[in-house]
Amino acid sequence: MLVLGIETTCDETACAVVKNGKEILSNVIATQTDLHSIYGGVYPELACRRHFDLIIPLIDQALKEANVSPAEIDLISVAYGPGLIGALLLGVHAAKSLALAWNKPFVGVNHVEAHLYAAWMGCENPEFPALGVVISGGHTFLVKMEALGHYEMIGQTVDDAIGEAFDKVGVLLDLPYPGGPEIEKLARQGDPKRFPFKAGTVKGRPWDFSFSGLKTNVLYTVKGQNCDKKAPSQITEHDKPHIAASFQEAALKDITIKTLAAAERFDCKMIFLGGGVTHNQRLRELFQNSKVPVHWPLPRLSLDNAAMIAGLGYHIFIQKNYQGDSYELEPKPRIPLSK
Ligand code: KG4
Ligand code: ZN
Repeated sequence: MLVLGIETTCDETACAVVKNGKEILSNVIATQTDLHSIYGGVYPELACRRHFDLIIPLIDQALKEANVSPAEIDLISVAYGPGLIGALLLGVHAAKSLALAWNKPFVGVNHVEAHLYAAWMGCENPEFPALGVVISGGHTFLVKMEALGHYEMIGQTVDDAIGEAFDKVGVLLDLPYPGGPEIEKLARQGDPKRFPFKAGTVKGRPWDFSFSGLKTNVLYTVKGQNCDKKAPSQITEHDKPHIAASFQEAALKDITIKTLAAAERFDCKMIFLGGGVTHNQRLRELFQNSKVPVHWPLPRLSLDNAAMIAGLGYHIFIQKNYQGDSYELEPKPRIPLSK
C-alpha cells in the first residue's frame, strides 16, 4: 500500500511516499529556518505563506523521487494537529483537495504521535508495554504504550518543552535560530561542570518536567540577577561554550534519568524516543548504558518530516479498517495523542 504523507504543522513543509508503513520511497523536506531566523522563532503568517508556495512543488517532487504516479497512491495521510492553525490549514486542505481530485481516501494523523512512530518505524519486532518519549520544540512527555494508539500519560512538562528551552537559551547566547543544534555544537568545546545548572522538579510528580527555572538560571548567568532580557550581556565569548555545555548536560540528564527510571518502574520492554531533540548526539551517548533497548528515529526522521506521517497514517488506516476520514475533518492546534 502506497501512502503519500503531508506535513505542515510548523516551519517545515514536507512530503513523502512510504510503502506499507515502513519503506521510505521519498522523503522531501523544505525547512524554513532562513525565513524565521531573524525573529528568533517561528513567524506564523510567514510560515503559512511559505507552505502555500511550496506544497504543490514538494508533492510533485516526492512522487517523482519515489517514481510513483498519483494513480498508484492508495492513501493520503496528513498531520491535522497539533500545530499552528494557518500552517495546518494549508496541509489539510491540500490533502483533502488531492483526495477529491484523485478519488483516494485520506486520513488525518497526530503530528506528535507520528514522532513516536518515527522511532519504532525502524524496529523490526516492537515489544510492549514500551515507554514512549517525545522531546520536541512543542512537547516533552513520557507515555506508557500498550500498542499503537494506546497510550497512558506518565509525565509531561509543566512549563517549557525541552526544545523550546534550547531555543530560548540559544537566543540568550546570540546563536542563530533554532538554538538546539547550535547549542549542541558550542557545547562540544565547553565544560559541562562549569555552571551548576539543574532542571526543575515538580513536587509529588516525579515523572513531570520543568525547564523554565533552568532557562531563568541561564538568563541570570548571562545578564546578571534582577536583569531584564534587554540588559547587556555580563559574560564573555569565552564563557558561552561552558554555559551551553552546562545547560545541555542539565536538560539532557533530566530526560535520561527520568526516562530510565520510568522504564524500570513501569516494566517497559523497550524505549522509543521521538522529536527534534533526539537529533542530539550527547543525548544518545547518555542512553548508551540503558538496560532496556532504546530505539531512535531513523536518519532524517528526528526532525519534522512527512515519512512519519505517511507511516502512521498507514497503520491507522489498516488497524481501524475504515474508509478514511470525512471531508469534515478540520485542523486543530491542540488534539489528544491518539484519535
Ligand atoms: O520535532 P521538531 O522538529 O519540531 C516540533 O515538533 O517541535 O523539533 C524541533 C526542536 C527545536 O526546538 C530544536 O531546537 C530542537 O528540536 N533540536 C535540537 C537539536 N536539533 C533540533 N535540540 C537539541 N539538540 C539538537 N541537536
Ligand atoms: Zn515535530
